[in-house]
Amino acid sequence: MDWFERESKVLIRFYRRLPVVFVKGEGCWLYDVNGKKYLDLVAGIATVSIGHCHPHFIKRVREQLERLVHISNLFYTTPQIELAERLQKITGLDRFFFCNSGAEAVEASLKIARKVTGRKKFVAFTGSFHGRTMGALSVTWKEKFRKPFEPLIKPVEFAKFNDVHDLERKVDDETAAVIVEPVQGEAGVYPATRDFIKAIFEERDEHGFLVIFDEVQTGFGRTGRWFAKDHFRVQPDVMAMAKAMGSGFPIGGVGVKEEVAERLEATEHASTFGGNPLACTASLATIEVIENEGLVENSERMGEYFRKRLEEIGLNSRGMGLMIGVEVEKAFDIVRESLNKGVVINATSEETLRLVPPLIIGKEEVDFAVDVLSHLTKTTG
Ligand SMILES: Cc1ncc(COP(=O)(O)O)c(C=O)c1O
Repeated sequence: MDWFERESKVLIRFYRRLPVVFVKGEGCWLYDVNGKKYLDLVAGIATVSIGHCHPHFIKRVREQLERLVHISNLFYTTPQIELAERLQKITGLDRFFFCNSGAEAVEASLKIARKVTGRKKFVAFTGSFHGRTMGALSVTWKEKFRKPFEPLIKPVEFAKFNDVHDLERKVDDETAAVIVEPVQGEAGVYPATRDFIKAIFEERDEHGFLVIFDEVQTGFGRTGRWFAKDHFRVQPDVMAMAKAMGSGFPIGGVGVKEEVAERLEATEHASTFGGNPLACTASLATIEVIENEGLVENSERMGEYFRKRLEEIGLNSRGMGLMIGVEVEKAFDIVRESLNKGVVINATSEETLRLVPPLIIGKEEVDFAVDVLSHLTKTTG
């Protein structure tokens, strides 16, 4: 019995998987069970930012593994405090809470907004994706994801993404928070406009709600800045993080301003595993590599190079840094074909390929990917 068949007998059918079994990773490259090599332009969906099996990451995590994996938030642990101190510097936010995933970070953000404002209503946007738990799902746009699980939390209003007038219509003095992805990821890589982000903050000042930035997909250098908020020169009241935070090791977090933190008390939220020594060390090691190897800058540089090369082969793209959406026809055919040719790509719809490679990617790898894409968009387009 092969792996596909074994999987089909034991796992809940939540995923539609591509027919490949990966067993090893090294930098930007993956190896399947037969030893075939692939260029990874998915990186665990915008997660493995420093590349697979980075030596510094392995060393730091291994040392921590041998020292202490998990204790509890009943006690103090050193990596958690060190990580929060590090995040203060790179986010400019004041206080942090750690959890294990993006949805949990969103969940905590929504709870914080309700607690701090004493209000109930959330405003989210068309195209949004914030995760699959009941709260995160409530502010996620796609009806297909939400419908089978209703009733979800209420009230939630969806305003049109990048439409200032619709935003103004939907927010009011009952709004606890507006939650926004500065670059919508799952929708197909759509950056917010400057005017739109500015309007969200103006409305906040008028109505007194909190602004939650969901930087789960955009954070930790993905867009060519530490966080996408830095492109807009704004500071959200609450920021949700995960994905690349541990470069593949599960960790999420929420950062808040001091005036938000002041209104939160002991026992109002918690997580057994959240912020454990091993996960926090993985995140510290990730941040160290991003800093030491200038990966935020590389993300900006390689993002520009990638998009220039795509333009040369006649493909339109959008995005920021190494978060790129490419306009194609028959995206899912391209995904399957590129796998045969040794390039791992993801599509968010039949019209959009999403390229989110490790931030360590270089010109040679980009050129290889562009060659494959050039060939495939001619044959499948
Ligand atoms: C913007 C955004 N928020 C939240 C999530 C949910 O994260 P997780 O899958 O870690 O729960 C995702 C995942 O794709 C995301 O892209």
